[in-house]
Amino acid sequence: MRVNNIEYSCYRNLRQVQLSFSHGVNVLYGMNAQGKSNILEGIYYFARGRSFRGVRDRDLVMFGEAAARFSIEFVRGISDAPITLTAALPASGKKKLYRNGAPLRGSAEMLGAFRAVLFCPSHLSIVNGGPAERRAFLDIAIAQNSQSYIYYLSNYRRFLAERNALLKRYSQGVRVSAEEWETYAAQLSRAAAEIYAERRAYCDALTEDVSEYFREMTGEREKPSLKYTSHLDISESGEELFDEKEATAESLYTRLTTNIDRESAAGSTLWGPHKDDIHITLNGKEARLFASQGQQRSIALSMKLAEGEFSRRVSGEYPVFLLDDVFSELDESRRRFIMDKLKGRQIIVTSCEPSVVPTANADGDIAYFEVKGGEVFP
Ligand SMILES: Nc1ncnc2c1ncn2[C@@H]1O[C@H](COP(=O)(O)OP(=O)(O)OP(=O)(O)O)[C@@H](O)[C@H]1O
Ligand SMILES: [Mg+2]
Repeated sequence: MRVNNIEYSCYRNLRQVQLSFSHGVNVLYGMNAQGKSNILEGIYYFARGRSFRGVRDRDLVMFGEAAARFSIEFVRGISDAPITLTAALPASGKKKLYRNGAPLRGSAEMLGAFRAVLFCPSHLSIVNGGPAERRAFLDIAIAQNSQSYIYYLSNYRRFLAERNALLKRYSQGVRVSAEEWETYAAQLSRAAAEIYAERRAYCDALTEDVSEYFREMTGEREKPSLKYTSHLDISESGEELFDEKEATAESLYTRLTTNIDRESAAGSTLWGPHKDDIHITLNGKEARLFASQGQQRSIALSMKLAEGEFSRRVSGEYPVFLLDDVFSELDESRRRFIMDKLKGRQIIVTSCEPSVVPTANADGDIAYFEVKGGEVFP
């Protein structure tokens, strides 16, 4: 997969930007606060359906302007016709998305067409942060490769929000019938079992690549491993459930129908995939607690490389790799390792200092762009 062109208007500090990328390495360089990350954020928007920096769509509109409009043109197989995705974000009102000019119903319909893997320094928190960060890693990565995952996850989130609101009303004395609790338990447990199965399979699939990348990157003999963990691994009566959709659905259903007073006191749903985690270990010990900062960073980088490998296995081609300011944090040998592993794929890198991007091995297909005050100079 390759991005050919991008076009932004009134997107953050980019008033009017048009760029054509090389199919190899692209280096966006410039001083701080010039718009480098904004450019990557706009590209990744089409892979994720929202900003990777956790802001609302309307925050992407240039200050004082009525709307942002931006698009990417990309190709999948080399012989395929290019596809253009466009987002129009008003400062107030609903966003509009288009594919080759035709309106889409929403992000769910857009996701999966354009695939990208984003690396940024904050990804260290996938290893050393809380469970929510690891769940987000899974959700974003799996959604790009599975339409059914998007469907079940969005259903799950909707039912969960509704059930949590119901628990709050119940705790204030509103009567709720047994059937209503059962309906929510059934809907949530059906979606949960699918989410659980996909996340678990994804972690299993990633483990081998992660440990191979880690070994090559560090030369260490210690072995990282990822294991998806959930309350649903164990039934309420204490037996271990092995990835059986029926059994996990049933185990959640039972919990959600028999602990309502406890959940209502807590004010939210206490079981389900929104409570799960990935147990990341190095030689069997929890990496978050025992691995060094350098080892944690190497695991996070290995996970990102493995994410790209998984995507290729599912779709037959590599996604686009977006690297936001990662090289300045790495030693020379890791920089070269990353560039070597990404050889032959499209990479778009930002950096204050272009010389930290080791391009010596990049086969000539390299483009440099200077980003200055919201403008880009090839
Ligand atoms: N909605 C917006 N409208 C106009 N400007 C914005 C908006 N949002 C952010 N900016 C500006 O964009 C600039 C930052 O852009 P960006 O994050 O891309 O910088 P950068 O070049 O990646 O810098 P660094 O090297 O520090 O990471 C800031 O000056 C910020 O004020
Ligand atoms: Mg930046």
